[in-house]
Amino acid sequence: MPMEKSLIPAWILVLTTAIALAPSLCYYNDDRPYVPPPQKQTYLHFFLHDTFSGDYPSAVFVADPNTTTAFGQVTAVDDPLTIGPNITSEVIGNARGLWVLSAQDAATLMVYMDFEFTLGEFNGSSISVFSRNPIIELERELAVVGGREKFRMAQGFARLKTYFANFRNGDVIVEYNVTVIHY
Ligand SMILES: *[C@@H]1O[C@H](CO)[C@@H](O)[C@H](O)[C@H]1NC(C)=O
Ligand SMILES: *[C@@H]1O[C@H](CO)[C@@H](O)[C@H](O)[C@H]1NC(C)=O
Ligand SMILES: *[C@@H]1O[C@H](CO)[C@@H](O)[C@H](O)[C@H]1NC(C)=O
Ligand SMILES: *[C@@H]1O[C@H](CO)[C@@H](O)[C@H](O)[C@H]1NC(C)=O
Repeated sequence: MPMEKSLIPAWILVLTTAIALAPSLCYYNDDRPYVPPPQKQTYLHFFLHDTFSGDYPSAVFVADPNTTTAFGQVTAVDDPLTIGPNITSEVIGNARGLWVLSAQDAATLMVYMDFEFTLGEFNGSSISVFSRNPIIELERELAVVGGREKFRMAQGFARLKTYFANFRNGDVIVEYNVTVIHY
């Protein structure tokens, strides 16, 4: 029946025109109850390589105040994450961001970093770390405050242990055990 067939597009046209002409008075939805999906727990284990030395450092000073201590130094990083402690072992991601030597005694950092993974299940997903890092302690804990993609809405913590440190040039390798709760 050709008559009825031609009616359908006409109705769609009327509807879409009405929607297009409706003034948008509001930029948000009404409040809705939040129903969280079931949570998952994921453990991650890797090594971070923070390298100042060589021709291609993964950490660079971007601010260095003219003081007698290191207090106030800001470092930008793009540190590779590997599966084993050796830099030649498989790279599974990178940690990008900043840290600031933010204690008068220069023994604590404030860390603002996004750890993105580049392999397997979590390729393209990342965790956000915003935390103090008392580097003077051999073992320490950092807060995981969020994440992207598979780690959306993440919360958790990272246990850190210095695996290697060169106190002359600042190069370090740090072992990370991360517990992530996410959806
Ligand atoms: C650094 O501080 C010292 C002592 O206050 C001063 O003599 C020197 O000029 C400063 N250097 C720069 C680059 O500002
Ligand atoms: C890392 O691996 C390379 C090559 O496999 C080896 O020559 C080097 O000694 C290793 N380094 C460490 C610190 O284990
Ligand atoms: C990770 O994801 C990117 C972007 O989707 C893709 O180009 C790349 O091949 C993936 N890598 C692996 C190892 O799956
Ligand atoms: C990480 O977990 C492994 C296995 O349980 C353990 O051997 C290692 O000491 C832990 N490292 C840190 C930094 O907590």
